[in-house]
Amino acid sequence: MNDDSTGASRGRQSPHGLLRDRFAGEPHSVMERISASVDFDRRLYAHDIEASRAHCNMLVAQQIIPEADGYEILNGLDQIEEEIASGTFSFSAALEDIHMHIEARLTELIGDAGGRLHTARSRNDQVAADFRLWVRDAIDETGVALKSLQETLLTRAEEHAAAIMPGFTHLQSAQPVTLGHHLLAYFEMFDRDRSRLTDCRRRLNRNPLGSGALAGTSIPVDRDMTAEALGFDGPTANSMDAVSDRDFAVEFLGCLSLCAVHLSRLAEEIVLWSTAQFGFISLPDTLATGSSMMPQKRNPDAAELVRGKVGRVIGALNALLIVLKGLPLTYAKDMQEDKEPVFDATDSVSLCIAAVTAMIADMTVHGAAMEDAAGRGHATATDLADWLVKELSMPFRQAHRVTAQIVRIADSKDVALEDVPLAEMQGIEPGITADAITVLGVENSVSSRTSYGGTAPERVRQAIDEARQRLGGT
Ligand code: ARG
Repeated sequence: MNDDSTGASRGRQSPHGLLRDRFAGEPHSVMERISASVDFDRRLYAHDIEASRAHCNMLVAQQIIPEADGYEILNGLDQIEEEIASGTFSFSAALEDIHMHIEARLTELIGDAGGRLHTARSRNDQVAADFRLWVRDAIDETGVALKSLQETLLTRAEEHAAAIMPGFTHLQSAQPVTLGHHLLAYFEMFDRDRSRLTDCRRRLNRNPLGSGALAGTSIPVDRDMTAEALGFDGPTANSMDAVSDRDFAVEFLGCLSLCAVHLSRLAEEIVLWSTAQFGFISLPDTLATGSSMMPQKRNPDAAELVRGKVGRVIGALNALLIVLKGLPLTYAKDMQEDKEPVFDATDSVSLCIAAVTAMIADMTVHGAAMEDAAGRGHATATDLADWLVKELSMPFRQAHRVTAQIVRIADSKDVALEDVPLAEMQGIEPGITADAITVLGVENSVSSRTSYGGTAPERVRQAIDEARQRLGGT
């Protein structure tokens, strides 16, 4: 914290002068430490200034403040924005939060006219507006990052539309799939994540300005005008709700949490796939780390950290829900605890998206190892059961039993299903012909799954085209 105790000497009446007129003496030192939020809420400065410009223009248009004062205020705000952006602005814990800092500096710069900006405004509707604007931008930025991750997934999926790998349930060999299909599954998750963010943005996009401290204002403000200037869809309907609502932040954290969970699942696959035992992919040197002791190591730290950071993102969601759960209407200072979790979760998720995008873009795929693994564990047993259903009109339950018996033979001989002698298969079910053996290859298995949404390479290519169109339209 760049603590600046020179506020008074620069012309402020007292570093605590702004809101302490009714109190005797200076506050206890702990008050400053516990109240101050400027260390973190300075991240709202651009949005605070943007909202102040809109408020000022409205006050002038409604003839609530003189045009000349409005002009001074706008100039002052420009200068403050420039000072903060260039790092020359001085912050002081005594001035508590970003709102008080900007107001104090404005008055310092333009004198009494600065004091008119807060007409018909409270920090309660002010911070509610600023924070909404900040979260709105964060939603947009997260959406853009997710979209580029989705594009990367599509590029790699197209490259590997026909690359056969094992598909798992219970992390046991289930049925062969293609890597393209597997990557498209994540495309869908991230698509829903973006759509959830869009929903959250729509509900968030209402203007709290003009709600005052909690009850509205007697001054003839035009709330539609500030709404329009700030790109809100209209004013919030209830002033008490407007100053105490942090649903938008909770929802945003909910969206981020689920997105972080998706990122983490993909990261976990990267961790598994890059082990010597799986050997499906390798990460490039640029995205792997070494060990301080074991020279052979090639650790997927970035993927592990993506997995690990979910903890703090979900923690942020929990933290905010818990802050809010016992608060009576309307504003309470507890709510100042809303920002750090949101900032931290936003930063974490943005970093995780970037890391996962880089790993997916740059990983080397080992097609032969994947295909080899795809055939293990009798992964085509369902194909044999389906053959019995289709060719011998056998009820599926019976086909399941027949196949299970053949699997037992394969296990007892320690061979793959397709290597069980035909005569032994016929010993279980006389209707089985050599044709059945052909369905037991992984390639055949994959290319036969042509149902919509299935793993057959032709379907995967079609799904990629559809996904591209969907992505283009959003
Ligand atoms: N820094 C405060 C916050 O983030 C701004 C609102 C203060 N309002 C108040 N009535 N003290 O919550």
